[in-house]
Amino acid sequence: MIKKNALITGITGQDGAWLAKFLIKKGYKVHGMIRRSSSINTKRIDDIFQEPFIKNKNLYLYYGDLTDTSSIQNIIIKSNPDEIYNLGAQSHVKVSYETPEYTTDVNGMGTLRILESIRNLKLGKKVKFYQASSSEMFGSTKPPQSEKSLFAPQSPYAAGKLYSYWITKIYREAYNIYASNGILFNHESKFRGDTFVTKKICKSVAKISKNKQKKIILGNLYAKRDWGDARDYVEGVWRILQYKKPDDFVLSTGKSFSVKEFVEIAFKYVGIKVIWKGKGLKEIGINSKTKKVIVSVSKLYFRPTEVDFLRGNSNKARRELKWKNKINLNKMISDMIDFELNNL
Ligand code: NAP
Ligand code: GDD
Repeated sequence: MIKKNALITGITGQDGAWLAKFLIKKGYKVHGMIRRSSSINTKRIDDIFQEPFIKNKNLYLYYGDLTDTSSIQNIIIKSNPDEIYNLGAQSHVKVSYETPEYTTDVNGMGTLRILESIRNLKLGKKVKFYQASSSEMFGSTKPPQSEKSLFAPQSPYAAGKLYSYWITKIYREAYNIYASNGILFNHESKFRGDTFVTKKICKSVAKISKNKQKKIILGNLYAKRDWGDARDYVEGVWRILQYKKPDDFVLSTGKSFSVKEFVEIAFKYVGIKVIWKGKGLKEIGINSKTKKVIVSVSKLYFRPTEVDFLRGNSNKARRELKWKNKINLNKMISDMIDFELNNL
């Protein structure tokens, strides 16, 4: 059997790591673009890394960057991919206000650079391309949001992603390239970056439960998100590229919770009940037993413009791709907290 080659940008990130493991299990040879950094950033894939001299390797890593066209082209030539998953991004919405130009270059132009490489290398017939589009593109559009909803991006991050969404569709239609968008709602796991709200909460809850931290300081407690588990979502991503034709699909759970509700569920898992007092920046969460403040709010973590309410409608993916999310919010949160407790 000839093994399929998959190229993943963003292989060192949350989704890249889960997808690499998933594809290797399926028998793929996985090729990943990694960035040079002063300290090694491959911790999420160290368990599948193989030494360069091993025969029949199934994981290959190449230095490159989505801002560097020549590295993109070289990696595509070297890895000879059947499927390209473009997961690389400056993926933090709040940081995108601080680095708008860089974020747009990576999240917008980076996608164009890959698509142009596919076109210039005349790989349009051979390669399937996946673009990691985001529910953030819906912004202030009323939920539930589906493939048919309007986009109303609220951040430099979302605007860059929306450019990539459209350029993917345009290259599909103009050049007959198999290019698809997965519009994924928030998904989390033990591999989530430390500064995203779910990871921040789970890590803090684990530490607070062991008296290693006093409280969590958060921003907007009332934003609602449709949170799923990254392990389910990477399977959906793969299914999108196995579909009979290139197309766009929403992946979501269809259920939304506020940041405040997430905090309550997380504390409940370690046996702590939270009582809320005050309003706005003065709102606090108190441990019902010890009466100590365990949650407070700071404007430092608010965004200049916020996406208040995301809840997806993924009927199309469920029907056409036979995709479903299997891991519920409580299980996801307990797995994330257990991981943090073990690390302590
Ligand atoms: P993540 O953990 O932040 O991973 C991002 C990856 O992109 C990392 O491997 C990072 O490398 C890499 N990267 C950043 N800048 C790059 C550049 N200039 N050139 C090449 N690679 C670069 O993000 P994630 O949660 O796995 O998300 C994966 C993709 O899905 C992203 O495009 C994200 O925007 C999108 N998305 C995520 C969600 C979600 O809820 N997780 C939902 C919708 C869409 P380093 O490790 O070196 O930093
Ligand atoms: N990060 C963070 N930190 N967010 C906080 C905090 C805090 O201390 N307090 C409240 N929040 C709120 C944010 O204002 C936002 O409304 C919500 O929690 C979720 O924030 P993040 O976890 O940073 O994720 P995101 O929804 O902005 O973006 C993630 O999901 C997108 C898909 O909708 C990222 O993974 C994006 O890359 C992805 O596209």
